[in-house]
Amino acid sequence: MNIIELNKISKTYGKGEGKVKALQNVSLNIEREEFVAIMGPSGSGKTTLLNMIGLLDKPDSGKYLLDNREINSETGQNTLASLRRDKIGFVFQSFNLLARTTALDNVIMPAIYSGLKNRVNVAKKLLEQVGLGHRIKHKPNQMSGGEKQRVAIARALINNPQILLTDEPTGNLDTKTGQEIMKIFTDLNKNKGITILMITHEPEIAKHAQRSIKMRDGKISINNF
Ligand SMILES: Nc1ncnc2c1ncn2[C@@H]1O[C@H](COP(=O)(O)OP(=O)(O)OP(=O)(O)O)[C@@H](O)[C@H]1O
Ligand SMILES: [Mg+2]
Repeated sequence: MNIIELNKISKTYGKGEGKVKALQNVSLNIEREEFVAIMGPSGSGKTTLLNMIGLLDKPDSGKYLLDNREINSETGQNTLASLRRDKIGFVFQSFNLLARTTALDNVIMPAIYSGLKNRVNVAKKLLEQVGLGHRIKHKPNQMSGGEKQRVAIARALINNPQILLTDEPTGNLDTKTGQEIMKIFTDLNKNKGITILMITHEPEIAKHAQRSIKMRDGKISINNF
C-alpha cells in the first residue's frame, strides 16, 4: 500500500525571467515501509520534492495523497502543520539543533508542541537507541558531528512518525560516521517499519536504500535504478 502518492506535481519559483520550474509533473509512489534514496545533480529539485512531501511547501498543481489524505494548493497551514507533526520526522545535513540546549531538551522540544505525555522518558529512550545514553546533558558544541546527527534523528522520532525525510544526512560526516547513521536508518526501517526517503549525492550511501530514484531538471529521470 502506498503511503505517498504524487500525481503530476509541479512547483515553480519566481516570476518572469527568474522563473525556475523546480518540479515538473512529478509522479511518484512510495509504499509503506520502503527505504528510498533520491539522487540527482545540484538544482535538480530534490530538496523541493522532499519539502513538498514533508508539507513544508505546497504544490502549484497536481495531487498529493499522504497516507490517503489529499494535499493540494488549497490545504490550510494548520492542517499541514498538524499532519506534519503527527506523521513526519525530518533530519537535515546541518542537524539544525538548538545550540544552547542539551541533547535531551533538543529531543524533547517537538513533543512539547504535540503534548506527548512521558516525553522525558521517551526522549531518553530514543537517545539510548541511537547510542547517546551517555551524552544526554551535552550541548551541540560539546558533541561530534555524528553525535549531533544522532540527536537530530532522536528528535525526528519523538512524535513517532510513520515517515522519515532526510536531506543529505551524511553530507557533513566522515565515511565511518556516515555508515553508522545508515545503520540506524536501516534498523528504523526494518525493525520499526518507518518509511524513509533520503536525499544523497553518494552512491555508497544510496546503496543502503531498497531503491533509488534519480532527478534531473525538475523531473524524475530514472525510477528504480
Ligand atoms: N525558494 C526558492 N526560490 C527560488 N528558487 C528556488 C527556491 N528553492 C529552490 N529554488 C530553485 O529550484 C531549483 C531546485 O532546487 P532544489 O533545492 O530542489 O535542488 P536540489 O536538487 O536539492 O539541489 P542540491 O543538490 O544543490 O541541494 C534550483 O534551480 C533552485 O535554484
Ligand atoms: Mg538540496
